[in-house]
Amino acid sequence: MKVGFVGWRGMVGSVLMERMTAEKDFDLIESVFFSTSSPGAAAPRLGKGDPVLRDANDIDALRGCDTIITCQGGDYTKAVYPQLRAAGWTGYWVDAASTLRMADDAVLILDPVNMPVITKALAAGTRNYIGGNCTVSLMMLAIDGLLKADLVEWVTAMTYQAASGAGAPNMRELLAQMGHVHAMTRDLLADPKSAILDIDRKVNEALRGPGLPKQEFGLPLAGSLIPWIADDMGNGVSKEEWKGSAECNKILGKPPMGQPGSVVVEGLCVRIGAMRCHSQALTIKLKHDLPMGEIERMIGAAHRWVKLVPNTKEASMCDLSPAAVSGTMDIPIGRLRKLAMGAGRHGGEYLSAFTVGDQLLWGAAEPLRRMLRILVKESA
Ligand code: HSE
Repeated sequence: MKVGFVGWRGMVGSVLMERMTAEKDFDLIESVFFSTSSPGAAAPRLGKGDPVLRDANDIDALRGCDTIITCQGGDYTKAVYPQLRAAGWTGYWVDAASTLRMADDAVLILDPVNMPVITKALAAGTRNYIGGNCTVSLMMLAIDGLLKADLVEWVTAMTYQAASGAGAPNMRELLAQMGHVHAMTRDLLADPKSAILDIDRKVNEALRGPGLPKQEFGLPLAGSLIPWIADDMGNGVSKEEWKGSAECNKILGKPPMGQPGSVVVEGLCVRIGAMRCHSQALTIKLKHDLPMGEIERMIGAAHRWVKLVPNTKEASMCDLSPAAVSGTMDIPIGRLRKLAMGAGRHGGEYLSAFTVGDQLLWGAAEPLRRMLRILVKESA
């Protein structure tokens, strides 16, 4: 299979290259690397394939690929994808961007959760396989056991989203903000007798003052948070929150939220000062009351990446944080308990949970990498 890669140098693309190298995926394909900025230069030496970078806007060059994987972003998809199909290309389009997610002829890929949906789509000749929103994918991987058992009536996700979700420059800016705040308080911090309220005043001056680097976020994230992510849908809901319901049901192959048979997904999405792990506090309304032990067994047995964390102080603090999870494939879920609003023999239908996941791995690159494996197998 001849596979074209676009946007492989960006943040998600680089994580994809790392994972594909680690899993020896390049041994299975013939690669063509595309570039929007430096066609003609040498391609990276990752397995066998074209030694030269091809032009990512050259429709004829793209047409030569059986599969194209793009992490280049939505603008590229918008500009190139329609031209490619109009030129008669019938290959597989695997995309990290959100542009095509809700299109009727696109399937959202998260194979540990929705392999049956993917299999059906392949059999039906579907050619567009799009990675889901990171927050939605991470939430669904965490509660896959409950979703597979069709136990979820509704779920709310209160999110704590990392800077990486906003882009690489935003990660740099978060650190620059931290550095600025520290620089402004360094002298006071060095003096053990300085008053904490004086330090705090300096922090506020730093956060509100003109010297704070905030070109990307537009306001302080370090020492603060941002309770809105992505566009304003105009009805009190952010685009990131809207994706929760729209994409979760589409991933599961269910009707849109609000229609019979759909899952209700609600939430409130917040940016915090973590680097690349999104965390989420979930409240889940189960369709019926079940013993806690059974719920834990279901969640823990769903797939090999989900890790059940006992609901103790020590285990929660140790295993359920961005610092602990960053750079790993693990999807830990813990803080599981029945909530006080429930009634019933086993404590009721209302469940709390907390989960953390790397938004660049399972949230972005990994579903694409695994889809490529599925396509290679399919075409063998
Ligand atoms: N939209 C997500 C965020 C990342 O802003 O954190 C991409 O899915």
